[in-house]
Amino acid sequence: MCGIVGYVGHRQALDVVVEALRRMEYRGYDSSGVAVLDGSGGLAIEKRAGRLANLEAALDEDGRDSFKGTAGMGHTRWATHGRPTDRNAHPHRDVEQRIAVVHNGIIENFGPLRAELEDAGVDLLSDTDTEVTVHLVARAYAEGDTAGDFEASALKVLRRLEGAFTLLFTHADHPGTIIAARRSTPLVVGVGTDEMFLGSDVAAFIEHTREAIELGQDNVVIITADDYRILDFDGEPVEGRPFHIDWDLEAAEKGGHDFFMLKEIEEQPLAVADTLRGHFTNGRIVLDEQRLTDQDLRDIDKVFVVACGSAYHSGLVAKYAIEHWARLPVEVELASEFRYRDPVLDRSTLVVAISQSGETADTLEAVRHAREQKARVLAVCNTNGSQIPRESDAVLYTRAGPEIGVASTKAFLAQVAANYLVGLALAQARGTKYPDEVAREFAELAAMPELIEKLIGRAESVRELARDMASKSTILFLGRHVGYPVALEGALKLKELAYIHAEGFAAGELKHGPIALIEDELPVIVVMPSPKGRAVLHSKMLSNIREIQARGARTIVIAEEGDETVKPFADHLIEIPASPTLLQPLLSTVPLQIFAAQVAQTRGYDVDKPRNLAKSVTVE
Ligand code: M6R
Repeated sequence: MCGIVGYVGHRQALDVVVEALRRMEYRGYDSSGVAVLDGSGGLAIEKRAGRLANLEAALDEDGRDSFKGTAGMGHTRWATHGRPTDRNAHPHRDVEQRIAVVHNGIIENFGPLRAELEDAGVDLLSDTDTEVTVHLVARAYAEGDTAGDFEASALKVLRRLEGAFTLLFTHADHPGTIIAARRSTPLVVGVGTDEMFLGSDVAAFIEHTREAIELGQDNVVIITADDYRILDFDGEPVEGRPFHIDWDLEAAEKGGHDFFMLKEIEEQPLAVADTLRGHFTNGRIVLDEQRLTDQDLRDIDKVFVVACGSAYHSGLVAKYAIEHWARLPVEVELASEFRYRDPVLDRSTLVVAISQSGETADTLEAVRHAREQKARVLAVCNTNGSQIPRESDAVLYTRAGPEIGVASTKAFLAQVAANYLVGLALAQARGTKYPDEVAREFAELAAMPELIEKLIGRAESVRELARDMASKSTILFLGRHVGYPVALEGALKLKELAYIHAEGFAAGELKHGPIALIEDELPVIVVMPSPKGRAVLHSKMLSNIREIQARGARTIVIAEEGDETVKPFADHLIEIPASPTLLQPLLSTVPLQIFAAQVAQTRGYDVDKPRNLAKSVTVE
């Protein structure tokens, strides 16, 4: 997830673009950059790793005079391909330095496109997937049937791209024009008086205009100071949807929500889809960085998963997937306990370290301890260039984008998705799944974002229930199999956001003690396994619900649509779409996040900044 802005009009573009980038920084802050066209053939670019302040300091140092012009664009990056360095910062430009591009998303087929350019002698300067697009446009502009035609050259290249992208192109020979395109990532047009704006969302231009145009999928928009045209990728005109923006600036940054966390819950389908994107190519699961050979992976005979908090819960889900698919023994450890326990590790141990921030001190120390014992380390991380992936032998990035809410939501779901990929990668390396089985499992995984989207669309009944429960002092959560980590995560969300005593239990463990807690009207949230999965799981869980209902508990049951057997025992039913048992956490977690957020809101708490907590815990 990156922030993108564009401007063509009558003001100094640099000022408009830098201000807009400030509003977009919540979308990424690994690096930022600007490109300004001076109107007489000059294209000035400045870009810097780190926060926007670094870019501004560089502009001050180098002098802003060379950035005079009324058309420009900017980018604030959340790195996916390539480290967060000056070199990888956007905009990228072509060899002749006439064309510039900024990009949000992932170009899935950048590998073959890059090879094609390298074969043609093009020297690529960055490690990004983005840079190929600007060279391809430059080549299309230089020769063939699109020579000299900026619009036709851009369209020709767009038709070749696979993946998800918002792209903005400028050309020094066409200084009053920006060509932009979107597929599966956001882009909005702001319509001013003698000025046009582009932004990843309306916060980019809301202080200048409240009139906007929503673009459809695979749309191209060409803006000049006083006009915009919308086309499809074949160059046929299409209609955008005009709308008026009522939000104030603060609400605009939060997508109209009161809190970032609520927006982040809604971003989960995209976070999961982006995390999966490009990781199954040519019939194989591929990681982002792999400094391990296939033989190293085949030699693994034991896996430890280390993580903290929500990341640890995602690791518990990983255990079920890895054991089931790759037939390897897996232990899941709280990172803070791992290194003090003298774990038995050697060269054939794989330690999977899961961390959103990549900076959590407990997890980092666990990684260091594992490496000292010669174990191999695979990081699952959301932050490119952070310490944990740097110290690991292989990396799989979750692509949830920056998470501003302290409570993990989209990063958690992306971790769960990434962990499934780890399970499939190990199964593939060890041959415990045939290639067609891996392909089938991946296809089921790839279908999940749509189901998550569907589920989010029906959140209102969960919110209603949450308002009703907001005065409770204890809420318990029960789950079995992969539903157990979901119960733990649901309880953690409620504790950290709503400050309510909440505990998650493995349902079978209830009778060994916790059942003594059950009393009249105590709310118990139960995560039901799929009735189409292992029958024994489902029937045992039904017995558990009966046991607690018989003792007066108020049962809130999360169950698959069409699961009739559970209805008599559910005081409240939350239905989720049907899915394979193993993948169900990608769905069953979502209502629990919504529930916790709404309880906290009803109690009047700051959902984004729960008391006593920090987003990244860099002390042990
Ligand atoms: O950045 P990390 O994923 O390493 O962070 C781990 C935990 O601190 C984090 O998941 C924490 O538990 C969240 N507050 C949960 O919502």
